Order: sequence, then C-alpha cells, then structure tokens
Amino acid sequence: MKVLVAGANGHTGRLLVQYLHEAGHEPFGLIRKEEQKAKIEELGGTPVLADVTHSDVGYAVKGMDAVIFAAGSGGSTGADQTEAVDRDGAINLVKATESLGIKKFVMLSSMAAGEPERGPESLQHYMKMKGEADDYLKSTELDYTIVRPGGLTHDESTSQIQVGEKVDQGTISRADVAKTMIACLQEPNAYHKTFEMIQGDTQIEDALKSL
Ligand SMILES: NC(=O)c1ccc[n+]([C@@H]2O[C@H](COP(=O)([O-])OP(=O)(O)OC[C@H]3O[C@@H](n4cnc5c(N)ncnc54)[C@H](OP(=O)(O)O)[C@@H]3O)[C@@H](O)[C@H]2O)c1
Repeated sequence: MKVLVAGANGHTGRLLVQYLHEAGHEPFGLIRKEEQKAKIEELGGTPVLADVTHSDVGYAVKGMDAVIFAAGSGGSTGADQTEAVDRDGAINLVKATESLGIKKFVMLSSMAAGEPERGPESLQHYMKMKGEADDYLKSTELDYTIVRPGGLTHDESTSQIQVGEKVDQGTISRADVAKTMIACLQEPNAYHKTFEMIQGDTQIEDALKSL
C-alpha cells in the first residue's frame, strides 16, 4: 500500500515510515525541509516536500492508497500555529484526500480532543482545535480512523494497548501509536471509529477488533 505520512520527520512520523517499510508497504514521507530527505530515505521512505497548510498539498497526496496525519505544531509555538497546522492543516489534507478519491485516512489526534474541559488549561485550545479537525474528518465519506492517545513517550514498543471511547489518563509509547495507526489501515473494524488509547495489556490487533 502506498501511504503518505504527514509529519514524517517528527518522532512518531519517523517510526511510521520505518514500520510501514518493514511491513512491506511503500511509505512516502511528507516533510517541509530539503535537509530532512536523507533521514526519510534511510528509514525506507520516499520524501515528498510539502506543507500541510498550503492549499496545493494535493500533489503530495496524489497516487496514494492511504494517508496518515502525524504532523503537529508542537508545544513551543503559539495559538496561531495550533489553528494553522493542527486544525486547518489537518483539514486541508483531509480535503485533498477526499477530492482525489482516496478512501483511507488515519488521524493522530489526542485524548480529550473536542473536550478541552478534560485537559489542563494550557492544552485546552489545542484540544479544541484537534476536536474541530476530527469533526471535519468524521463529516466526510472517508474510511477514517481517529486515534486519540494519552501522553506520548519514547518507551520501547510492547504492542500491548488499552482502547476505548474514553480511557483513563495515561501514557503510551510513540512506537505503539505508530504500530496501531498502521494496523488501522487494514482492519475494517477500525474504519469510521474514534478511540482513545493508552498502554495496556491487549495486543494491538485484538484491541482493534474489540472497538
Ligand atoms: N506529545 C504528546 O504527549 C501528545 C499526546 C497526544 C497526541 N499528540 C499528537 O501527536 C502528534 C505527533 O507527536 P510527535 O511528538 O511525534 O510530534 P513532533 O515530533 O513534534 O513532530 C511533528 C512534525 O510535524 C511537522 N510539521 C509541523 N508543521 C507542519 C506543516 N505545516 N506541514 C507539514 N509538517 C509539519 C514537523 O515538521 P519539522 O520537523 O519540519 O518541524 C514535525 O516533524 C503531535 O503533534 C500531537 O498533535 C501528542
């Protein structure tokens, strides 16, 4: 499967490219900077220079079988970037995917997206913006999956997770988030689903079948 990973130079994005390649898929890494190309190639991906906030992002999506959004403005930028990247950039990519007739889209969202009152004050704007992007994706005809992890860690993968419409606050490794998002591509039971996720004691494949 040809899969575009937006945010491919990010911590989770790099793992997505690596694991997609190892699983026999053909990953394309959407990156913003020329100097990030070598890393994507080293991980087994094909680099694509693009910016999710630009209206012409469709050229990066063309020819793909699926799209994964793992980009994010990060904690060190202001509210304007949260709106531009986490909400509008995500929506931009969803629109490009839909207009090109590609069906599968996996969104890296966040626990409590759309429910800012569940999070700390400092994250409430971010959660609102993530919720708005998720709502847009849900309104489309795409075979979407919206993955809402708790706090992301750099721990090793255990491939053991807990999923649910809502789960208790907790953490999960970026490695297991990446593996779960990839598994969602080919698990029809995960299509048209939104779920929260933390580290747990259920194998990823079984957890997705339980949704
Ligand atoms: N941190 C947490 O605990 C947590 C919890 C739940 C959900 N999340 C979500 O998970 C996402 C991924 O986390 P992470 O730590 O892997 O992220 P990360 O390392 O910060 O990577 C984000 C990537 O997005 C890219 N990006 C930013 N703006 C872009 C744009 N306009 N167009 C294209 N790419 C753009 C960045 O590119 P550059 O490399 O060029 O800067 C970066 O590579 C976060 O953004 C957040 O929404 C995080």
